[in-house]
Amino acid sequence: MVKNTAVGNPPPVSLRPLAQSDLPLFEAAYESHEGAGEHQWFGFSSPGHSLAEMGLIGPDGGRLTVMARTEAVGSVSWYRRVFGHPETSWCWEIGVHVLPGWRGQRIGTQSQRLLADYLFDNTRVWRLQAITDAANVPEQRALERVGFLREGLLRDAQWREGRWHDQVLYSLLRRDHLPRSAAGKISVPSP
Ligand SMILES: CC(C)(COP(=O)(O)OP(=O)(O)OC[C@H]1O[C@@H](n2cnc3c(N)ncnc32)[C@H](O)[C@@H]1OP(=O)(O)O)[C@@H](O)C(=O)NCCC(=O)NCCS
Repeated sequence: MVKNTAVGNPPPVSLRPLAQSDLPLFEAAYESHEGAGEHQWFGFSSPGHSLAEMGLIGPDGGRLTVMARTEAVGSVSWYRRVFGHPETSWCWEIGVHVLPGWRGQRIGTQSQRLLADYLFDNTRVWRLQAITDAANVPEQRALERVGFLREGLLRDAQWREGRWHDQVLYSLLRRDHLPRSAAGKISVPSP
């Protein structure tokens, strides 16, 4: 199903917790090359994930459903990555998945901006990071639109479809991001 919304007029996007009715939609999408995305196909996985498993929001990460108006069109996720001592040197690594018929309508960009706002508002995180395939131009552009900076190339970091793939690392620091909820406030919390 391809939506015909022009990129100049992207649908309004919001985030909400996963619902039971999202699971078949997401599971079906992850089980094909096209659904997972050309840079995200790692082969089949076991069916029958529960809401508790897929929709868990906890101290080490979480996932939210991306809504375009009233339709579930994808998901965003985050999980804890540690560089050193786990209590002091952690960040969130984020991910995004837009269902095939909805790609190319600024939904990936909007949903990652909303996720950055959400995580800076609701957790004490200082650094967000994202890793994507070196050939995944839409995701790199979306991250850059949100304000992420490209930090470097991870050579041959991912095994997929019979060969190694370079990945690129991006980050967004709290000091470089002003969530919409903070507009007008003068102080930026320190790490
Ligand atoms: C990658 C993904 C999240 C991007 O979301 P999207 O809603 O399709 O992308 P957007 O419409 O927000 O576009 C983002 C940018 O990429 C550009 N773009 C979109 N499709 C493109 C394509 N096929 N080739 C080149 N650029 C493209 C857009 O023009 C936009 O750039 P701009 O703002 O400079 O004009 C989405 O395509 C997806 O879920 N893909 C499968 C899963 C995946 O790869 N997830 C990321 C894993 S790390």
